[in-house]
Amino acid sequence: MSERFGPIDFDRFHTVDLPERLAAGNGKLAGAHLSGLRPIAFRLVDGRAFTYIPTTDGIDIAPGDEDASTVVELAYQDWCDFVWELKSSFALLYAEGITVPRGSFGQLSRWEPALRAAFDGQVVYDFNDPPPVLDGDGNSLDLTRSFTLDDSDAEIRDFLERAGFVHLRGVFDDDEVEALGADVEAAVARARPDDQRSWWTTVDGEEVCNRVNYLNDQSTLIAGLHDDPRLRRVSDLGGSDLRAAADRLDGHGVVIKVPGASSGLADLPWHRDCGMGGHPVKCPLLNVGIQLDAATPAAGQLQMIAGSHRGTSRLPAGDEVQGLPVVALTTEAGDVTAHWGHTLHAAPPPADRHAAGRRALYVTYVSPLTFEMVGPGQGYNDVLFTRDAGRVRHVDELR
Ligand SMILES: [Fe+2]
Repeated sequence: MSERFGPIDFDRFHTVDLPERLAAGNGKLAGAHLSGLRPIAFRLVDGRAFTYIPTTDGIDIAPGDEDASTVVELAYQDWCDFVWELKSSFALLYAEGITVPRGSFGQLSRWEPALRAAFDGQVVYDFNDPPPVLDGDGNSLDLTRSFTLDDSDAEIRDFLERAGFVHLRGVFDDDEVEALGADVEAAVARARPDDQRSWWTTVDGEEVCNRVNYLNDQSTLIAGLHDDPRLRRVSDLGGSDLRAAADRLDGHGVVIKVPGASSGLADLPWHRDCGMGGHPVKCPLLNVGIQLDAATPAAGQLQMIAGSHRGTSRLPAGDEVQGLPVVALTTEAGDVTAHWGHTLHAAPPPADRHAAGRRALYVTYVSPLTFEMVGPGQGYNDVLFTRDAGRVRHVDELR
């Protein structure tokens, strides 16, 4: 196509490169995931356009946009970034980088998995036919299993590889949790809604902080976490070349479950941590979470779709996860969770409206390429701060 992540010739891509890829197998890969999709066109601001047409055995590419049900218009650089997956459709939506003069944004987001298959051969995780999550003997993996650091790396890694997440009990003791919690509370007290380093929601009309990034800039204790031998051991489960993203991609942050949240992204819908873009750069990204409070249905839990890290997909709506292997993680303070950023996960509202907020400290380990592609202080999620004086909004609040 072009040098990786570089400029792509729009015409040659659509008349030569993409048709070759489709014919070589990507068309068949994409073809299984076109149900309900109508022809969509990408139009550059200079007027050049190509239409993607679903067929019985893949995708046809045709010049122009006259026959497209949905037309997506965008700048050339944004189109390149979209093809390279440096920006996802949702990143373009948040940044107001696209207009849809005909049809709907919903069609673009529904097309995206098939486009990833067409562009670079990614496997699609199919909500209607999810691959079974099996152990080494071919039996169903016990997804409720948890581990301790007394278990072998091989066993823990095997579970992580298959499920896409792992739960380790009793990694930090009570005194350590208390000390980390004190530094978190001090940082939350300093955070402001427009500081572009924290996320806020609304509870009973009041702004309440639900996330603070770059805590490592405020706490030497938290800054030292990524070299803690226990966390190094966990990150090595994901690959010995993974490096802590302390100075970029939001740094080490705390996610706070706030009961009664009614705006923003306090209650995270199903997502991937590479969902704003950068999947080919950051992943395999491993997010390691130190639980500062117990996670229960009442206080709110992290939910994972086991095995979903093995493919790309759009984000499932609520009822689409029925039939998928959803696992809610019940943890104690001091436990550690690790999940691939590419595993679909969610943090729905706490069942108890009056529960205390639940806090999890995250340290993110990423592929080394990240340090070439993303500068200090930058991240693919920065686009979330571009509205409402830096207040992070749920996608439904954009429309
Ligand atoms: Fe996440």
